Formats: sequence, C-alpha cells, structure tokens
Amino acid sequence: MSLQGFLSASAAAGHADDDQVSIIASLAEAAKSIDHLVRRNSIVADLGTETGGANADGDHQKALDVKAEGLILEHLSATNAAALLSEEQDDAVLLDPDGSVIVAVDPLDGSSNISVNVTIGTIFSLLPSHGDAAANTLQAGRHQLAAGFFTYGPQTTLVLTFAGGGDVAGFILCPDSGEFIRSGGALSVPADTKEFAVNSAYTNYWFPPMKQWMDDTLMGKSGPCEKDYRMRWIASLVADGWRILQRGGIFLYPADQRPGNETGRLRLVYEANPIGLLMERAGGMAIDGVNPILDLVPENLHQRVPLFFGATSEVKRLQHHHSSAD
Ligand code: AHG
Ligand code: MN
Ligand code: MN
Repeated sequence: MSLQGFLSASAAAGHADDDQVSIIASLAEAAKSIDHLVRRNSIVADLGTETGGANADGDHQKALDVKAEGLILEHLSATNAAALLSEEQDDAVLLDPDGSVIVAVDPLDGSSNISVNVTIGTIFSLLPSHGDAAANTLQAGRHQLAAGFFTYGPQTTLVLTFAGGGDVAGFILCPDSGEFIRSGGALSVPADTKEFAVNSAYTNYWFPPMKQWMDDTLMGKSGPCEKDYRMRWIASLVADGWRILQRGGIFLYPADQRPGNETGRLRLVYEANPIGLLMERAGGMAIDGVNPILDLVPENLHQRVPLFFGATSEVKRLQHHHSSAD
C-alpha cells in the first residue's frame, strides 16, 4: 500500500482529518526533496559544513539543517498548517491563521552524521491549534494528533502514527516509483530484547541512577538482568528509534553534569514528544526517568529533557533506578 493509500484509509476510518492528511503528505514531499539532497551530498556541496550560524539552542547549524528546514517550510506553506515550530527557529513561524494544525519539527536529526554518510532523519509532531496557534505552542505531547519520523540512510523510511487510531505504520521510499510504500504490518516494539543505545563516553558525568543502571547492565548474565547485552549508538535518534521499533531494546539520553545538559540534551517538543507517541502506540514506553514524556507540559519551545524509550520491560527497569533514588 502506498502512503497516499494509507492516508486515505486513515481518513476514511476517522483516524485523521483532511488537514492532518494533507500536512503529512506535504511533509513526505519535503522528505523526498531532503532525500534527493542527501544522496548528492558532497557532489553538490558539503552539506555537513557549518554555516557559521547557530540555532535557538546554541547548536552550530550545518548547511543541511538550514536547507531541510527551508524545504519543510516551503511545502507546509502550501497547506493550511497554522504554524511551524522548529529546532532551527527561535520562535513559532505563524502560517495560516485559520489552520487547525501546528507542526513541530526537527528538520534534520543527527547532524553530526551528515558528513560521514551515516543515517540521519526528520522528526515531526502535529498538535491542535485551537484557533490561536501562537497561544498553543506549549502543549503536552498527550495532545498530539500525529507523530512520526523519516530516516535517510541505506533505505529512506517513514514511521507514522495518528493519535486518533490505527497502526504505527512503517514505509520505505521506493527508488523506482519515488513513492513511500508500506512495509510490513503494525509496528510494535518487541518485548524480548538484549540491546541498549547510549553514549557511554559521558559516564563520568552521569548522575547516580544512570551509573547504577549501567553497572547492573554490564554485569550481564551474572548480574540482576541475567542476560548479556549488545550496545548500539548511531548518534541519530531516528535511526536508533527505527531499530528499536524493529528489534526492541532501549535508548537512553540521560541528563548529565556537563554544562547545558543538566536537564538532558534532547528537545521535548520536536524530538521526545513524537518519539513518545510512537512508542506508546507501539506498545513501548518513553519517559524522562520518572514520568511519561507525553505528560510533560513544555515551559518553552526548545526545552530539553532526559529521554529513555523502547521496550516496556527495559524502560521500567530504568525507571526503577530513578524512582528508588528519590
Ligand atoms: P540534532 O542533530 O537534531 O541536534 O540531534 C542529534 C541528537 C540525537 O539524534 C542523537 O541521539 C544525539 O543528538 C547524539 O548526541 P551525542 O553527539 O551527544 O552522542
Ligand atoms: Mn535532533
Ligand atoms: Mn536537528
């Protein structure tokens, strides 16, 4: 089934309305344009080059961060999206005042991978506008209408879910037809897992619950987990997320003691929230250590949070370490 077919079926089943469907379709067109650029990286220009600019968070922007955002804005401007919330913009970009949907995006996730030909992606979240987009930018993820992400890698993929119902669906961009084609049935996080994803280079900066979690995990079969794990870290949340939806496991990006990371590294509105909706709808969990990500009310657009997501048993074990530390 094509993405268009899936969107039509979702609308017919009452899982999504026409505005949501047309916005997802326009994001897919933007993703195809980003994919086109990614495949020509270093032929057209080095898209991993720093532009000299910085985003609202102080991250140095790469050429592809800026180009990806431009393509998304261009495509969304042709829909009736009410506003765009983006990692690359200080504030909300107001679009159609009559629009019913606010779109939050991380236009290019995994920027450090652009120049080294490793999977990168785009993350998106749809929120209701309630007639005044500017006043509705800070909503808990529980209010999301839809969420998903694209990955640009050996395959270009899309994962999508509507809060109104239906599957967490995976699609592959077919290089022959140029269409996203559904791959497999409903995605659900496999329960039985032996993989974790964390950047352990920061171990020395971690807080005690994380260190304790790692100690237990690394004891393998002889420790409380009674199994040996494998570690994977792609440095693109989307690529780790796609793997977890296929193969299970847990992703961890804790808060740590590095300046600026005391409340985490990843952003709530356009990274953690969409992942949170996908995980919960796929039978997994996403938490900040203690609370479900989807229950957090953002205090600002670029708020950072600790993020742990994946298979329920693994996330609960991590949660136990944080709860027992209180
Ligand atoms: P972004 O490129 O949008 O800033 O996000 C990158 C994020 C995330 O995708 C990834 O898991 C993490 O940063 C990698 O962080 P480290 O470089 O600290 O490992
Ligand atoms: Mn990101
Ligand atoms: Mn980004």
